[in-house]
Amino acid sequence: MTSLCSRPAEALKGDISIPGDKSISHRALILGASAVGETRISGLLEGEDVLATAAALRCLGAGVERGDDGVWHVHGRGVGGFDEPATVLEMGNSGTAARLLIGMVASHPFTSFFTGDASLRARPMKRIIEPLAKIGADFRAHQGGRLPLAVAGARAPIPITYALPVASAQVKSAILLAGLNTPGLTTVVEAQPTRDHSELMLRHFGAEVTVETAPRGGRVISLAGHPEIAGQDIVVPGDPSSAAFPLVAALVVADSRLTLRRVGVNPLRAGLLDCLREMGAGLTMSEARRVGGEPVADLSIEAGPLKGVDVPASRAPTMIDEYPILAVAAACAEGVSRMHGLGELRVKESDRLSAIAEGLVRAGVKVETDADSLIVHGGGRPPPGGCTIETNLDHRIAMASLVLGMTSKEPVVIDDAGPIDTSFPGFVALMNDLGARIGAVAP
Ligand code: S3P
Repeated sequence: MTSLCSRPAEALKGDISIPGDKSISHRALILGASAVGETRISGLLEGEDVLATAAALRCLGAGVERGDDGVWHVHGRGVGGFDEPATVLEMGNSGTAARLLIGMVASHPFTSFFTGDASLRARPMKRIIEPLAKIGADFRAHQGGRLPLAVAGARAPIPITYALPVASAQVKSAILLAGLNTPGLTTVVEAQPTRDHSELMLRHFGAEVTVETAPRGGRVISLAGHPEIAGQDIVVPGDPSSAAFPLVAALVVADSRLTLRRVGVNPLRAGLLDCLREMGAGLTMSEARRVGGEPVADLSIEAGPLKGVDVPASRAPTMIDEYPILAVAAACAEGVSRMHGLGELRVKESDRLSAIAEGLVRAGVKVETDADSLIVHGGGRPPPGGCTIETNLDHRIAMASLVLGMTSKEPVVIDDAGPIDTSFPGFVALMNDLGARIGAVAP
């Protein structure tokens, strides 16, 4: 385990690009592997999570290679064309890789085995087992419906209509991907809209996807099975969930000013930007455009005073990965911030609701939690800091804690920086180039 110490930072200044979007990178590889012909992907996130997906797709028979110019080439098998994998598929830390690929193989007539690291093996898989069993797949899972897991894919997959019991883009995507090799219409009903990268990319590849608005703002998404999908050129936008860390760091470290280029601003991922604006952040968006069907923009931000914010539960799906870093902004803001509807944070890479609260308390911030809410009492000034925070195989807890150290009076140490490479390789070097002081713990 590599521990790191984040000391109070200099003003952060610079003009940067953010690594590719993790969600979109997984989907580009998976759909490229399911299409006929070659898919070329530029800007693919080369983090461990996405590399786990690439390795698994190779085991399923697709060609997945990185060119010397950084462009990834995927030679697809066509819908329904995967081979039975000869080895256990190792998903590392990635819930997205595991759930999307289990969905994909659930409608293939062979058996696959999945496992992952200690964090992933603790995460719930019943949420995908239940709908995929209705399609006809058969599962053997570890206690409580967890990895390791074996899936015998359906020989004659049945199209289903499924109402999501939790707001989860991973569950929605697992069902839609199973629907690719299923005859007829596969339909997912979501009460609260979740990130729609799968729908957008399925269409980009030529599949027929319809989206209707359901009562009270929900969505009904249908995919016509057995589409003829052909290889595409894809440009992956910068990941808004990664951009969130330098954005908030620039807000809370005095005199900072940053520009972040070509960041994804899909409205179903943009809840953090709404919160930061409501807190009074000096945030501007320019050069709004589309790349590969996804909206992107340049974001400029400068440090300034923040006030507390009330974040309604309805916003949670649009910023589900951003609560650890929003909580750091809230700790520096003047006044109380209240965040509701956070039950899903308990089943992320770690129990993030507890991890956020515990980290902030150690750094001297007053925090309250219940089953699914977080209340942060901001002091309107840098928190005391001077603590060690355990990252528990959770990349976002690691990065949020390092940002906390940049703005605290005393340094913040994290026990394990390793998980950062799952989603944001180069994070520490990038932040240090901008003015952060992250380095080894003094002996
Ligand atoms: C993701 C969906 C979200 C998110 C995860 C990536 C995706 O999970 O937390 O980091 O790519 O679909 P849920 O769908 O389980 O909320």
